Amino acid sequence: MPTTLTLRCAAPEDTRALGSAIASLLRAGDVVALSGELGAGKTCFVQGTAAGLDVTDPITSPTFVLVKLYEGRLPLVHCDVYRLETLRDVQDLGDEVLAPDAVTCIEWGDAITPLLPEDRLEVELVHGEDGVRIVELRGHGSRWTDVDGSLSEVCEPWR
Ligand SMILES: Nc1ncnc2c1ncn2[C@@H]1O[C@H](COP(=O)(O)OP(=O)(O)OP(=O)(O)O)[C@@H](O)[C@H]1O
Ligand SMILES: [Mg+2]
Repeated sequence: MPTTLTLRCAAPEDTRALGSAIASLLRAGDVVALSGELGAGKTCFVQGTAAGLDVTDPITSPTFVLVKLYEGRLPLVHCDVYRLETLRDVQDLGDEVLAPDAVTCIEWGDAITPLLPEDRLEVELVHGEDGVRIVELRGHGSRWTDVDGSLSEVCEPWR
């Protein structure tokens, strides 16, 4: 199976469904690094992941708070590093980010790639024609040598 899977999400519900399907693969300590321009659907994807982790609190954009912790089947840490400028800023986010007992989803994770563990799932969302989103899932490290091909049953494969 490929370490990269590219899918087409036609509507926000599809992006959430994909995020939720990913949740079923997640284990404590996993890191999901999201990238994509403003409004690409990163928070929407994390909302799906949260639902899949049985988080009941509403997931809102952490852009101003920077990091939020949610209780679910696994603890979910949702952070947004868009506004962070220095390495110190990122380190100041707190111990719960990248904690071994939690799942950490990082919006704009591509901005801090050198700080991320080798084992991570990268999710890049790109605006496609007619408002759809093309979502590329890239597995990094031994944890993610295979990105589950069954995800293409959730959203249509793209090319
Ligand atoms: N597959 C999709 N098709 C169409 N619209 C979508 C899709 N996925 C998400 N959206 C919509 O895109 C908008 C922006 O989504 P969202 O806030 O998740 O983006 P974001 O990448 O987190 O933005 P920011 O960079 O500001 O954090 C929302 O209105 C959401 O419903
Ligand atoms: Mg967002």
